[in-house]
Amino acid sequence: MFNEEFQLDAPIRWGMVGGGRGSEIGYSHRAAAQRDRLFTFVAAALDLDAERGRDFGTKLGLAPERCYPDYKTLFAEEAKREDGIQAVSIATPNSTHYEIAKAALEAGLHVICEKPATIHVEDALELKALAEKQNKMLAVMYGYTGFQMVHQAREMVRRGDIGAVRVIQMSFAHGFHNTEIEKNSPGAKWRMNPEVSGPSFIIGDCGTHPFYMAGMITGLKVKSLMCSRQSFIESRAPLEDNAHVLFQFEGGAVGTLWASAINSGSMHQQKVRIVGEKASLEWWDEYPNQLRYEVQGEPVRILERGMGYLHNDDPGVSANRQGGGHAEGFFESWANLYHRYALAIDAYNRNDKAFLESHWYPDIDGGIDGVKMVNACVKSADNGAVWVDYD
Ligand code: NAI
Repeated sequence: MFNEEFQLDAPIRWGMVGGGRGSEIGYSHRAAAQRDRLFTFVAAALDLDAERGRDFGTKLGLAPERCYPDYKTLFAEEAKREDGIQAVSIATPNSTHYEIAKAALEAGLHVICEKPATIHVEDALELKALAEKQNKMLAVMYGYTGFQMVHQAREMVRRGDIGAVRVIQMSFAHGFHNTEIEKNSPGAKWRMNPEVSGPSFIIGDCGTHPFYMAGMITGLKVKSLMCSRQSFIESRAPLEDNAHVLFQFEGGAVGTLWASAINSGSMHQQKVRIVGEKASLEWWDEYPNQLRYEVQGEPVRILERGMGYLHNDDPGVSANRQGGGHAEGFFESWANLYHRYALAIDAYNRNDKAFLESHWYPDIDGGIDGVKMVNACVKSADNGAVWVDYD
């Protein structure tokens, strides 16, 4: 079972940039970070609108003087305090991640950044080098990878339960943007603006999630890819609201990714199917407590979260917060990840390299991979859906 006993000397003093009132993802960060009392929310620059950010921050329990008008003031003023923030989460639109993460690292903070990590690959590489220089954690919020059954899939692949991986099928194809909802939704509007979203909409917004997860489960690296992308809502061009990608992985495996915002009627359709020589695994985020295990020639097995037959009962993290049969969900997955971030930050602070080497969390390498994938897809699609090298 999950170990809820306190494992740090003191909670990590934590702040946020973005995630203001009405934002899509701000609450998820706050709920996850504070779930196990490992982070204490003490300061923020929550909103582009400073007054609204201050009002919201105080209503979340922050001291008014620690609700800052912007991230630069947040980092500068907190650095002057003995009890200033030690870590920050960045939950702002895509184009701002690089400059805010860079400033945070330069201010000596540990950073949890939203995906896609940056717009340009070189910026993500620069952030990685800066985090190494500063000896700080730089995590990327691939929030679905805290689910217990995703870790079970990873462990099954590692142990050879399905044999060598041959095919990886990935999708994140919802229907929420099948009409021009950006006319009335600020959160959708910036996503269709290349200056804020980057060169892609749905591949970056959703495709990066199963792509990261598949890499995490299989450990396979992409060699080359081919992408076709479309804007079914024409005003979104050049940004795509639908894309299909073919992958060739190092070692011979192949794969596909369907990323879509116009899959009418679909809630998420975020699935990762890993086909091995002997068997296949399939995980679907709408049924996250189950993992399909299909051995050739045998009846399908539905593995259930919280059961003794699972491999991944990693004590403390990504373990059962409640016994099997009770549904765990999105917030548990996020809390598991924040738990992992807290342990990583603690290890960075103690300079415990041995712990960090064996401790998994979604780090900047996964962030770099996502940005590479997005840019390679755009290059491929915009040259007529040609094969392009990944690196
Ligand atoms: P949103 O548009 O709903 O909210 C953005 C918030 O950031 C707003 O409160 C806005 O006022 C604030 N903001 C913008 N620029 C700022 C700045 N320079 N300083 C301070 N605050 C600023 O956006 P949403 O949907 O919450 O997305 C934010 C980020 O999170 C995006 O990069 C997105 O890709 C990512 N995201 C990740 C998800 C995941 O599952 N990991 C799910 C949803 C979004």
